[in-house]
Amino acid sequence: MPQMSALAPDLIQFIGRFHPLLVHLPIGFLVLLASLELLACWQRMHALTVVRGSVLMLTVPTTILSAVCGCLLARGGGYDTCLLEWHRWSGFGVAGACLLVLILHILNWRATYAVALALTLLSLVGVSHFGGSLTHGTNYLTRYLPSLGNHTEGGTPVMRTAVGTGSGDAASVFATLVQPLLVAKCVACHGPLQAKCGLRVDTMAQILRSPKYGPVLVPGNAAASELVTLLDYPLYQEGHMPPAGAPQMTADEIELLRWWVDAGAPDDKTAAESKLPANLQHLLNPHATPLPAPPDRNP
Ligand code: HEC
Repeated sequence: MPQMSALAPDLIQFIGRFHPLLVHLPIGFLVLLASLELLACWQRMHALTVVRGSVLMLTVPTTILSAVCGCLLARGGGYDTCLLEWHRWSGFGVAGACLLVLILHILNWRATYAVALALTLLSLVGVSHFGGSLTHGTNYLTRYLPSLGNHTEGGTPVMRTAVGTGSGDAASVFATLVQPLLVAKCVACHGPLQAKCGLRVDTMAQILRSPKYGPVLVPGNAAASELVTLLDYPLYQEGHMPPAGAPQMTADEIELLRWWVDAGAPDDKTAAESKLPANLQHLLNPHATPLPAPPDRNP
């Protein structure tokens, strides 16, 4: 983790993180401007257009400022590079287009101004969608679309499983407990749709692939595996996973991962074969009450 802070000095990240806040200002200004133009056109409320210049004078600097902050934020890394480049260049495109709209307004070229404003708004939809997909995942918008629902989740069947299917006797601990847990708590950012830091944890093969800063799983040694250690960091400490704000792991779930890694991270052993500790057995059946820790269970 420390390498990452070297890549992104604190001040740059601090300023960069104003991007999500700033970016909504030009969006609001552009939508306001378009609404005023439409009202002026259809309802003959021409008086509304006197503020055109003022709205544009607010739009241009906020667009440029949010583009600059966006670039600083991107330096922190952890984003899907292809999506990032689309978002970056379409964002610069919109900033340039806003400047052009302002110039056309000053030149009083009405028709060209109207076309340029309409195209700018269209591109804005694209930029915003790339931006939303970068932070929330590419299926964020359509995930709960009734007919698409689960079908859009990258075609990976594991995405639909939930923790504790109750079929733990026959299937491996990895498939019944560990993988669904990673899917539920990590795969939104470390899966097929976006892989922050180049890390994917949706399949065993992916977990074992070394991402940017070396392996995150050392079978048999949870204390040396970032897959487990980062979960133990205090919530607001840099590097804590999942990041504050995202659904967190419970103490039992962290314990399960720790036990599984210490047991050699097998992907084929059942709960019985790998001797799942009694205090974690209840995870196999989400409706059961957790048992107290082993020492207290002696009759
Ligand atoms: C909301 C998005 C999000 C979620 C959910 C999330 N992570 Fe991350 N993860 C990140 C980001 C962003 C980074 C890059 C860290 C940074 O730049 O500070 C990262 C980095 C990591 C790294 C470091 C990778 C390396 O190369 O060193 C590990 C390990 C990790 N996450 C594990 C997990 C695990 C395990 C979970 C689930 C319990 C999880 N993450 C959930 C966003 C997320």
